[in-house]
Amino acid sequence: MDTEIVEACPGRTAADIAHPVTPISSSTSCAAVFRRLIAAPNVHDWPVCVSGSGQAEAEKIVGLVNRQEFILAYTVMYGKELYGKKPITVLMDKSPVKVPVSLSCEALNHLLVAAGRDSMRKGFIVMDGDSYVGTGNFADVLSAVAELMATRAVERDMALERVEQANVAKTNFLASMSHELRTPLNAILGFADLVRKETYGEMSPPNYRDYVEDIYQSGQHLLSMINEILDMAKIEAGHFEISEDVFDMEITLSRVTRMMREAAAKAQISLSSQIPEHGLPLVRAGERHFQQIILNILSNAIKFTEAGGAVTLDTRLNENGDVLLVITDTGIGIDPSMIEKVFDPFEQVESSLTRTRAGTGLGLPLARAMTEAYGGTLYLTSEVGCGTRVVVLLPAHRVCHDWSATEAVNAIFVA
Ligand SMILES: Nc1ncnc2c1ncn2[C@@H]1O[C@H](COP(=O)(O)OP(=O)(O)OP(=O)(O)O)[C@@H](O)[C@H]1O
Ligand SMILES: [Mg+2]
Repeated sequence: MDTEIVEACPGRTAADIAHPVTPISSSTSCAAVFRRLIAAPNVHDWPVCVSGSGQAEAEKIVGLVNRQEFILAYTVMYGKELYGKKPITVLMDKSPVKVPVSLSCEALNHLLVAAGRDSMRKGFIVMDGDSYVGTGNFADVLSAVAELMATRAVERDMALERVEQANVAKTNFLASMSHELRTPLNAILGFADLVRKETYGEMSPPNYRDYVEDIYQSGQHLLSMINEILDMAKIEAGHFEISEDVFDMEITLSRVTRMMREAAAKAQISLSSQIPEHGLPLVRAGERHFQQIILNILSNAIKFTEAGGAVTLDTRLNENGDVLLVITDTGIGIDPSMIEKVFDPFEQVESSLTRTRAGTGLGLPLARAMTEAYGGTLYLTSEVGCGTRVVVLLPAHRVCHDWSATEAVNAIFVA
């Protein structure tokens, strides 16, 4: 018996479904067995023990009579004449399946199915060591397994519900914590900015300037991390709200590249952008979100490219009107096994122990979730040691061609 299966399958066992049918002696005639079967319509299988009167003999099972098989053989033409006076041993199964009492019904099901159709049709004998306990049949096994499946389905649903509740609690906690952190942080940033600009007078000694600049920059970094966590929590909770601003992509993209220019120069990386000759269209989407998507991708491209490398931002309009933004770098690349994983929140290729670059692992998941919220797609291709290419596709229905939309944008700029 496969003990591994036995241990891995809880629920009812062979003992629970065994029918304690009193065995018939092997010397009983087939005619007598037929009469007994007719008189006991609920008995599916009848065990046969060696002839004798003692208890020890009664427990020595030598075969099993299956009701259906016996009746079929006995009631065919001349069956009665042929077998009536003969002992039951001529029509019994001489090597029935014997299973231990402790065997789970699930394991028993595996065993009978694996043994083939015959074993599923015929019954089996349940034994406790060398002692006979009862007979069993496949229908009882199946109903015990179905019961077990139903219990498991309920348990699984309950476990899923618990996971979902825990997830909602985590998301709410993240959202409220980020909110609480932002308030004091904004005060720190505001006052640090006042001091670094020396609004109310010069600082002395002068190296306080460096310290206050550090306070300001670290605060900014902390704020952007908190904002990312808050945005991710909103997306995961399904509370992310898209905006329908109409803005000029060209203006937004040149602003974003300007914002990244200093970081690129500091890292000695060339940063260039290409815009089609006929310019770029107006798009209807959240400008702040769009800017965030490009910033996240560009900052990765710069962060994961060594000095001397290059980062390019290429923009194209597809024939079907989709806008494609392609950000390419000549950086360290991503191992193929990690390409999809980097879109999971907090997932980073380098482990926290070996990490050489700062970050929380939210930039890409956020960029993808935001792009998808606007009906777009974001994917990347990469080769270790050669570089990475991230493509953001904004669908044609987000591109505005009508003049009223342009006027709306002009109005925003005039204001
Ligand atoms: N251009 C790239 N080249 C190489 N690896 C990249 C690139 N972009 C992303 N990755 C890998 O994907 C991981 C996830 O990127 P993601 O932007 O989500 O997180 P992060 O940059 O580590 O942190 P965060 O953006 O939250 O500051 C990165 O840690 C990095 O391992
Ligand atoms: Mg990042």
